[in-house]
Amino acid sequence: MEAAVNQADTIDFSAVRWGSVEWTNLCTLYLRACDGRSPRPILGDTAAVDAVDRIDYDWARMRRSLRPGINQWLVAVRASRFDAWSADFLRRHPDASVLHLGCGMDTRAFRLHPPGEVRWFDIDRPQVIELRRKLYDDRDNYRMLGASVTDSSWLEEIPADRPALIVAEGLLIYLREPEVRALLQRLTDRFPAGEMLFDTLAPIGPRFSKLFTKGIVTWGIADARELQQWNPRLRFLEDAPGFAGSPRIPATPLGLLYRLVCATPAKRYDVLNRFAF
Ligand SMILES: C[S@@+](CC[C@H](N)C(=O)[O-])C[C@H]1O[C@@H](n2cnc3c(N)ncnc32)[C@H](O)[C@@H]1O
Repeated sequence: MEAAVNQADTIDFSAVRWGSVEWTNLCTLYLRACDGRSPRPILGDTAAVDAVDRIDYDWARMRRSLRPGINQWLVAVRASRFDAWSADFLRRHPDASVLHLGCGMDTRAFRLHPPGEVRWFDIDRPQVIELRRKLYDDRDNYRMLGASVTDSSWLEEIPADRPALIVAEGLLIYLREPEVRALLQRLTDRFPAGEMLFDTLAPIGPRFSKLFTKGIVTWGIADARELQQWNPRLRFLEDAPGFAGSPRIPATPLGLLYRLVCATPAKRYDVLNRFAF
């Protein structure tokens, strides 16, 4: 799927407040672009590189604040795991509907090149989708929806006649447990079959967040297999540590430090999960 790129050469994002939700979306976009520009990219997200080139923002300040390197690898390794699981599903279901929940500025729809029959829905809060529309347009088989996933009405806009791939990267940890339960239930009630890909944090995640990030992380779980008890339609397929070493991480001192962390139990703090239903 080619990105339906808005025509403007430069898009002014200077109104995005430092530290806001929209800013966090620019952070991950920027880190994916750093990976895309590196000599040996892990994710190779050229659409993110194009987006960063078109957006007018204080990227120099962003670079100073984020210090790419470990953060860049973390974002790229996680995204490539979700991409690989998504591509595997779309190979088997080339007529699927994809629900990309909490999409932010992620360019997954464009870097995966899904089969032409796939219907792709990028969904995030209205203010995030408003910003995203400065970069991209809706087109055949690609739509953006501005809604909170905790509301129920937006799901009615998505036809339920096909297998569904639901990707929620960096989303569920910001919901409360009853909201996660209700969302998973609504999704499995709506679609005949499909897969769900999402990341979870250990229960200590929300406690750390209270201390260090103003409590924005509100949900943690020790083992996501527990979700099968919440919702009997969910069937665990596999998981992977969020801090996964990759042979493509360069063997610099920082790269070796990253690989060392990936070899400790700390790598299970953040887990990427794959379920069928
Ligand atoms: C950390 S960002 C991740 C964005 C993107 N998935 C990425 O990896 O770059 C979390 C995203 O979840 C979205 N989000 C949080 N709560 C949401 C909700 N209730 N409904 C829809 N989106 C939500 C935020 O607006 C934000 O874009």
